[in-house]
Amino acid sequence: MSRASTESPLCHLDDIQEGTSLGIERGQQAYVAIKKRGQVYLYRNRCPHIGIRLEWQQHQFLDADKMLIQCANHGALFRIDNGLCVAGPCTGERLDLVEFNISEKSIFLV
Ligand code: FES
Repeated sequence: MSRASTESPLCHLDDIQEGTSLGIERGQQAYVAIKKRGQVYLYRNRCPHIGIRLEWQQHQFLDADKMLIQCANHGALFRIDNGLCVAGPCTGERLDLVEFNISEKSIFLV
């Protein structure tokens, strides 16, 4: 995929280890990237419950089994592949999916 913009990448694909999450800051925005089975998913780092950040510790967004995204605040659980909340106080709501392009193994916001 080509990219005309000169904007710097959010991160390099190799910055995200398989089966783990990576917190990314860009200006006033915070994101979480997750790599699962070689696929990358990118969401705003903002819980739909009360609009605050999700992580337990820096870069730690996943539950113990690394199967779901877990909010550290009240324990909401979200699917990695589509951000749907499947348990917790915001069940049925979704994380904000962020569109991105991959160019030269780097992730760029659309
Ligand atoms: S802020 Fe995420 S579950 Fe309450």
